[in-house]
Amino acid sequence: MKAALLTGASGDIGSAIARDLAADGWSLYLHYFANQEKVEKLIQELLRAYPQQEFYPLQMNLTDEAEMEKIAAQIFSLQAIVFAHGTTEYGLLQHVHSREMDDLWGMHVKMPILIIQAFQDKISRSENGRIVFISSVYGAVGSGLEVLYSTVKGAQIAFVKAYSKEVAYTGVTVNAVCPGAIDTKMNEHLTGEEKAELMDEIPVGRLGNPAEVSFWVAQLLKTESSYLTGQAIYVTGGWLK
Ligand SMILES: NC(=O)c1ccc[n+]([C@@H]2O[C@H](COP(=O)([O-])OP(=O)(O)OC[C@H]3O[C@@H](n4cnc5c(N)ncnc54)[C@H](OP(=O)(O)O)[C@@H]3O)[C@@H](O)[C@H]2O)c1
Repeated sequence: MKAALLTGASGDIGSAIARDLAADGWSLYLHYFANQEKVEKLIQELLRAYPQQEFYPLQMNLTDEAEMEKIAAQIFSLQAIVFAHGTTEYGLLQHVHSREMDDLWGMHVKMPILIIQAFQDKISRSENGRIVFISSVYGAVGSGLEVLYSTVKGAQIAFVKAYSKEVAYTGVTVNAVCPGAIDTKMNEHLTGEEKAELMDEIPVGRLGNPAEVSFWVAQLLKTESSYLTGQAIYVTGGWLK
């Protein structure tokens, strides 16, 4: 049975990815940080729809390296990893504390890399291994007031480009899906007026929805996607990129 680890499965984009991958026959390790209830409900829903597959919850704080032990102890077979967790901080760079920098870097870059190191052998064994980062269009074009977030999202894209070359001979593909503005919890702070201004800037004329991101993740995990690696795919409605 093919199994994938999905971080941020309790998030809006993450739960859309979980539904699409489950529909494609994947068994899933569904990671969450604080939102246990959302993942428990998602697991009940997926078990009802796909009783032959397996769905396990996995709690981890991805700013805390010590939590690597949890993941090593709980995951056995694995063919794919999708990193769909993440947060941002808004404000001028001058006001970002060293601790916040460490957390953003740890969560978006260092911990995913530690997880990949821990599972590289398992993933390569499948001969069709898959790694996908949910990065951001800001990782390519940058955003003022989210300088650190843009930096770590750009680092994810740089990692994808380099690491994909190192493991290509094993059949593992490594890609980034880079959303623009998606209608999720992450954008809940926007006022109606701010959302309208944002939509004016987006050629498609609206925010994206999580299923429009998860669609591309599901394509990348298919066996037929074996010749696409090292790419950043921008899902932005034509915005910024
Ligand atoms: N929404 C957008 O417009 C947009 C655009 C570009 C890129 N993205 C990227 O898409 C990904 C998913 O975002 P989303 O919009 O789906 O946001 P979301 O609904 O707020 O989900 C965020 C996810 O990150 C997890 N998380 C938060 N703090 C964590 C921590 N310390 N350790 C581990 N996990 C943690 C959350 O877990 P709990 O809920 O369990 O706490 C949740 O699963 C992120 O990488 C984000 O940067 C989003």
